[in-house]
Amino acid sequence: MTQRFENKVVLLTGAAAGIGAAIAHYLLESGATVVAADLRLENFGQMLAEVPEPLRARLHTYAMDVSDERAVSEVMGQIAETQPSLDAVVNNAGGSLMGGVAEITFEAWSHCLAVDLNSVFIVSKAALPLLQRSRGSIVNVASISGLFADHRMAAYNAAKGGVINLTRSLAVDYGPAGVRANVVAPGPVRTPALEKLLARDGSLLNAWQAGTPLGRIAEPADVAAAVAFLISDEARQISGVVLPVDGGFTAKTGQPDLAAVLL
Ligand SMILES: NC(=O)c1ccc[n+]([C@@H]2O[C@H](COP(=O)([O-])OP(=O)(O)OC[C@H]3O[C@@H](n4cnc5c(N)ncnc54)[C@H](O)[C@@H]3O)[C@@H](O)[C@H]2O)c1
Repeated sequence: MTQRFENKVVLLTGAAAGIGAAIAHYLLESGATVVAADLRLENFGQMLAEVPEPLRARLHTYAMDVSDERAVSEVMGQIAETQPSLDAVVNNAGGSLMGGVAEITFEAWSHCLAVDLNSVFIVSKAALPLLQRSRGSIVNVASISGLFADHRMAAYNAAKGGVINLTRSLAVDYGPAGVRANVVAPGPVRTPALEKLLARDGSLLNAWQAGTPLGRIAEPADVAAAVAFLISDEARQISGVVLPVDGGFTAKTGQPDLAAVLL
């Protein structure tokens, strides 16, 4: 049987851990060739061990700092030389930074914007010639933190908000060339990093769950399924959208239950 992404080549950043590793697994299981990039090749150790042997032939790992234009250009050159096409890019690499504007240094702010936002510019710019040839698509992994503000996460809020509007610019500018661009905006996702946070304060889980209409926070595979949908042909008429994967967390205004008082 033909698999959903047979003969499709996807570049995925931040692929060694967390959500990125789940996206890589999902795409490999669905027949894609995955060009998986992360900061260092050593980071792939555990992820590689979890990929079933028959799928490994379609997984190509690269060390690539997404905030380094030269490193990205080198990997893109290798993709152009070794792959028949580049059909999709998933800009997933990222990291958060805690602190309000008065608390963080300009250096830390700049680093957060480099990894979370400049990276999307750098990787998308380098990939566009190949994506225009394949009439491919881009999915950027932002966050619900790009839609609204959190407590003391100014740089992350700004960077992810930037990712969302940069994606709209990509959709507007390159739609006429057949390139789609969309955002997946996860709420909290049960990655190993988040599990560590929950180990420090278990009450966070209750707070997240209580604020989520569906009553549970996302698994990495939930985000992977949304990414796969957006790069698939099923989404061929969808461009410039922000798809929250948050169990309904951002569907609310945040107001108290007034009906409970008035009815
Ligand atoms: N986990 C969540 O709850 C959550 C929620 C919303 C959005 N997100 C977003 O999802 C994406 C993945 O998050 P995660 O939780 O899986 O993170 P993670 O820290 O578990 O994994 C991120 C991966 O990106 C890599 N990376 C970091 N900087 C890089 C760089 N400069 N170049 C290349 N690779 C780099 C890391 O080595 C790591 O393998 C991020 O963009 C994050 O902001 C996560």
